[in-house]
Amino acid sequence: MEKSIKEILYSEEIIKEKVAELGNKIAKDYHGKELLIVGVLKGASVFMGDLIRKIDIPVKIDFMAVSSYGLSTESSGVVKIIKDLDESIEDKHVLIIEDIIDTGLTLHYLCENLLSRKPKSLKICTLLDKPERRKVDIKVDYKGFDIPDEFIVGYGIDYAEKYRNLPYVATLWN
Ligand code: IMP
Ligand code: MG
Repeated sequence: MEKSIKEILYSEEIIKEKVAELGNKIAKDYHGKELLIVGVLKGASVFMGDLIRKIDIPVKIDFMAVSSYGLSTESSGVVKIIKDLDESIEDKHVLIIEDIIDTGLTLHYLCENLLSRKPKSLKICTLLDKPERRKVDIKVDYKGFDIPDEFIVGYGIDYAEKYRNLPYVATLWN
């Protein structure tokens, strides 16, 4: 079914400012440390691409792809790793980059999995957060915006694989 854009929540300009702010903070916090940035595909790819260029310290990047089974708009809590990290994270400072945290089930699973590999530290950075939807506790270390419980798209985030290329974050008509 085709859907159309209802309302722009965050414009390209506003996102740009926020990403720069987050990048500066991350660079300060990890100054003098070796940082591995792990993007969660595919949603975080656009955010991560912009964010790493605002982190003015040496970093390495890697990606994971996870699936909560199917094209549903609801997280099932059953997470499958589609693409794993290329290298060991043992004894490394790891920062996970997410597009949006909803129930928290995906990240909860991912963090448990990554923690078992014994990183030196593990933190979370997400562009968007829907705190009222949370089903499990997640400590979010860096956050762009809190959003209400509405389905959004754009800036990497999809509905049925579409809208990822929108430069802004928007809601859809039902
Ligand atoms: P969680 O496991 O419920 O926290 O879901 C996290 C994942 O669900 C995100 O990384 C997104 O891929 C997807 N998701 C959650 N809310 C939205 C939304 O409003 N629009 C598009 N995808 C969403
Ligand atoms: Mg995602």
